[in-house]
This record gives sequence, structure tokens and C-alpha cells, in this order.
Amino acid sequence: MKRTAVLVGFMVGCLFVVSGWGIVSHLQAATEIKLGHVDPADVCISKKGAAGATFKGLVEGGSGGSVNVKVFPASQLGNERELIEGVKLGTIQMAFVSGAIAGFYKPAQVLDIPYLFSSGPVAWKVMDGWFGKELAADILKQTGMRVLAYGETGFRNFTNSKGPIKSPADMKGLKIRVMETPVYVNMVKALGAAPTPIAWSETDTALQQKVVDGQENPVATIMQAKLYEVQKYMILDGHSYGCDFFLINDKFYQGLPKETQELLKTSAYTAAVVGRGVQHLNSATGISEVQTKGMQVYAPTAAERAQFKAATQKPVRDYVESQIGKTWIDKLMKAIQEAEAEMVK
Ligand code: MLT
Repeated sequence: MKRTAVLVGFMVGCLFVVSGWGIVSHLQAATEIKLGHVDPADVCISKKGAAGATFKGLVEGGSGGSVNVKVFPASQLGNERELIEGVKLGTIQMAFVSGAIAGFYKPAQVLDIPYLFSSGPVAWKVMDGWFGKELAADILKQTGMRVLAYGETGFRNFTNSKGPIKSPADMKGLKIRVMETPVYVNMVKALGAAPTPIAWSETDTALQQKVVDGQENPVATIMQAKLYEVQKYMILDGHSYGCDFFLINDKFYQGLPKETQELLKTSAYTAAVVGRGVQHLNSATGISEVQTKGMQVYAPTAAERAQFKAATQKPVRDYVESQIGKTWIDKLMKAIQEAEAEMVK
């Protein structure tokens, strides 16, 4: 009897130790972050590719391997809408996304009002300063997704396969692919063209099959997606500044130790700055590169740019105001004024 009791005690003890080890080994397993974006992985040509690689390296190195970042580029985990849904639900932990955020958080459309930002550095000051912080706090409150940092898609330009565009009149009747964001639908309509929202992953095919005549994106994106193969004409109208949002599911984030949270924040900011650099490098050098690939590039005069601004800014601003009210518009205008004043003249 005594022997049986000892044996049972021993076995229970063993079970406890084994399950205890189970808990310990579970606790020690690396935390995994699945991060999706729609761009290629190539760090030389892709802003989100460069940002993703930077983030992964900094987080894995800085955590001593206790956090493992798996980057899924090129829409492998879905298009931007699906990626945001995934982060919201927590089926993936992170995503780097651009315009599609507006489908989940309407005030983000304020950033897409045409001709607001005069340069990248002004946009960076605005997004990295009080305005970006207030916007991030509201996104968190409204959606349960935390913005770790703001990257950028960059200044967007129209391309098409039909003919050169020099003024809004040349856009009449053109079928233009836009992001799945109503603000771009309104902008393209204001120019007399016909907008078609299509996910980025399907844009190349839509252009090849002539479902649409044109699209709008920064030069770097046009280069990276080889759109010069299906688009002959580009105007450097730089109509709006595309901002990227580095999102993380907040429930997941809250479950991490404070020092890991800090590491994610600083790594995301560094990654965003790297992505902005890669974007600007490729948008600058890409102008002559797309020309060597056969594209005709037109740089509008100040008067022509003013025509684009006159045709688009007020209708889009009115549309955005009808959707979200004036508060975010006024805040953004104030932040831009302050950032402009801080720029070295
Ligand atoms: C788009 O047009 O869908 C985006 O600008 C693509 C991107 O984020 O690279």
C-alpha cells in the first residue's frame, strides 16, 4: 500500500515536472509576428520591402531572437483590404498598408486631399509630429489597430496608354484605375475621367487587358511594378501624397513585455524612415529610367499644375468634409502650416 502511494506520488511528480517543462518551453518559444504587405521583397526597389527587411532585422536582433518576424511580401497574405481585416481580427499581427486604410478609418482620407503637401520633408514633419500622434490615437480608439509608424507611398502621378496628358482637359474620358478608396474616385471624377477601383495586385493585369487606360502612383511604384511595359505616358503632376500605415493588432501588442513594445516602436520608425528613403531614391532616379524604357514623361508647368489643383482640391476637400466633418481637415492644415514654417528656407 505504502509502495503504491510512493509510486503514484512519483508518477504525479513526473507529470508535474513534464507539464511544467511544457509551460516553460512554451514561454520560451519565440513570439512570432506575421507581417504582410503588397510590394515586392526587393529592398533596393521597394519601400515596403526595405521597411519590412529593416524591421525584421532590428526586431530579431534587438530581442536576441525572442521575437521572430515573418515578412510576407507581394500580397501573399492578401490585398490591402484583406491585410487590414487580418490585423483587425488578429489573424495576422502586422501589415504595412497605404490607401485602403480609409475603408476602415474614414478620417485617413484627409491625407489624400490633392496638393496639400509641398514636399516629402513637410509630410514627414506632419506625420511624425503631433498630427500623426493624434491621428494614430484615434485610429487605435476607432479600430483596435495601433499605428507603430508612418511610412510613405510617395507623391502620385497619372500614367496612361492613350496619349500625353498636359492639362485636366487631356484626361476627359480616360478610364483610370484607382485604389479602393472613395477619395480617389472623387478626384478622378473631378478631372473628367472615369475611375475604377481595383486592388493593387490586379492592377497590372487590368492595364494589360485594357480594362482601364491608366492609373496613378509614385514613380518608384511604377518602376517596381514595371508599369512602363503597359503604360506609355506619365505626367509628373504629384497630385497627392500617399502615406503608409505600419499597423499592429493592439491586443497582441498589449500582451508583449514593455521592452518588446519599445523595440517594435523604434524599429518600426527606423523602418519607416528607410522605406521613405528608398521610395524617394527610386522616384528620383526612376524618372530617367522609365524614359529609357520608352515612357514619355511630362513635367507640367506651374500654370498646368495650378489647373490640376483647381480642378481637384475643392471637390475632394468638400467630399472629405461631407464624410468626416471639418476637424481633421483643420488640424491637418494647421500642422502643414507649422511644418512649412519650420522648413529651412
Ligand atoms: C496602390 O496604388 O494600390 C498603392 O500605391 C500600391 C502600393 O502601396 O505600393
